[in-house]
Amino acid sequence: MTNNSTLVLFGARGNLSRIKLIPGLFHLEESGKLSNEMKIVSVGRQNISQDEWENEIKDMLEKKFEGKYDLEVFDRFIKKNIYHATLPDDPNAFKNFAKLLHDDRRFPKNFAFFLSVRPSDFAKIIGQLAEENLLNDDEYWRRVLIEKPFGTDLKSAIELQKSISKHLNEKQIYRIDHYLGKSALQNILWTRFTNSILEPIWNKNYIDHIQITNHETLGVGERTQFYDATGALRDMTQSHLLQMLALTTMEKPKSFSPDDIRTEKIKLLKSIKSIPINEINKHAFRGQYKSGVIEKEGHVKGYLEELENTKSIVETYAAIRLYIDNPRWKNIPVYLRTAKRLSQSGTFISIKFKNNQTEKKLNSNNWLVFSIQPKESTYFEIQTKIPGLNESDLRTTKLEGINRLDHDEKIDAYETLMLDLLEGNQSRFLHIDEVKAAWSLIDPIIKYWSENKEKVHQYTAGTSDPKESEIIFENKNQFWREEN
Ligand code: BG6
Repeated sequence: MTNNSTLVLFGARGNLSRIKLIPGLFHLEESGKLSNEMKIVSVGRQNISQDEWENEIKDMLEKKFEGKYDLEVFDRFIKKNIYHATLPDDPNAFKNFAKLLHDDRRFPKNFAFFLSVRPSDFAKIIGQLAEENLLNDDEYWRRVLIEKPFGTDLKSAIELQKSISKHLNEKQIYRIDHYLGKSALQNILWTRFTNSILEPIWNKNYIDHIQITNHETLGVGERTQFYDATGALRDMTQSHLLQMLALTTMEKPKSFSPDDIRTEKIKLLKSIKSIPINEINKHAFRGQYKSGVIEKEGHVKGYLEELENTKSIVETYAAIRLYIDNPRWKNIPVYLRTAKRLSQSGTFISIKFKNNQTEKKLNSNNWLVFSIQPKESTYFEIQTKIPGLNESDLRTTKLEGINRLDHDEKIDAYETLMLDLLEGNQSRFLHIDEVKAAWSLIDPIIKYWSENKEKVHQYTAGTSDPKESEIIFENKNQFWREEN
């Protein structure tokens, strides 16, 4: 059970909060993870009453759980929840809010602030919290969770860090990457380091290349403006894909403590080579979806139509090739790809083993795949002989281990991460050095793409990876793996 604490949600009436945070906290309550005294203060800019807020919570839960939730738990949960309005035109709004937190005895004085607000407001809110003495952790713990993105490039990330570190030390800052809360991602480290048969083959001698894939059938939806200022590389590659890469390729940490895990991830991210500017066209590929047909949705608009701006060169498809400069991975390509509006959704880490060197004619074709979503499983593909008279007829056999059984508890990534925040476990949050290393890698590509205004490749919504993206492969024996 968590420490007695007050969790303050900024942006509590926003989308993330409605869909993930409030239902997630409800589930934590249901699982007995929140202490009796714990309180959740939702801060909003609208003047709504406590009753109205309670009705909104009810509505969120109705939608999320389709009316199926325990009413006793609901009663307990609702007592924990308090709404507080900080009206934008009230100069004393923040002062009054701070006074409430400091003085009202209902609120435990360990504070966790969850900033689910516009990135441009992060530094401002942290400054205000500090001014009201809400971040001083001499007597009680004080933590701040910051939603992604942390900066929009290396320079802005450094600036943001500079302004918040005036008020917070690294132990108080929880930079979120929600992929790290996914149980299938947590499984990678355990699979790698608890199965000793893997370690001897987890290196350049046995592995041909690695593919890290995130495909979505969804388009940018209502987030056109945000997305057009962001693009796939910033939105997915800089954060989620590089984190998956780090977990797959990092060295074994000294222990599974938060600090040791992060130390190894930082080392790994720092050892990735930057792509030379004059080779970006061979190492990186971008595309934009045009109108097409998506299963279950039917005809969908193209990105430029949704944006109502035919000039945008922002990518909705990005694929890059990277190399890790360390003895384990020297010269082994790692391909990262992410896209909106492809024919299938899924996140996979696929490891291609080298072909049999002595029997060159036999294509050994072994893959090990961590399927992160929609299915959580790990599988290995081997070649086996097809029974029959023909001596060399082989087929691919899949050895699959399902990581999530029907009766296993379903926990959303945000639930795990909110619990970590309340328990003070930073291992699934980003250290500033990880953020900086990731921007250093991505920045030159973004800059190059934004300066090269040639027409971006258009792919049809509802299709698979554009053929043209294969330009980034190191050799013709490599190809995009498609899961089904
Ligand atoms: C978010 C991105 O971080 O991750 C979205 O901003 C993306 O564009 C989402 O759709 C994907 O997350 P998940 O958990 O649905 O795979």
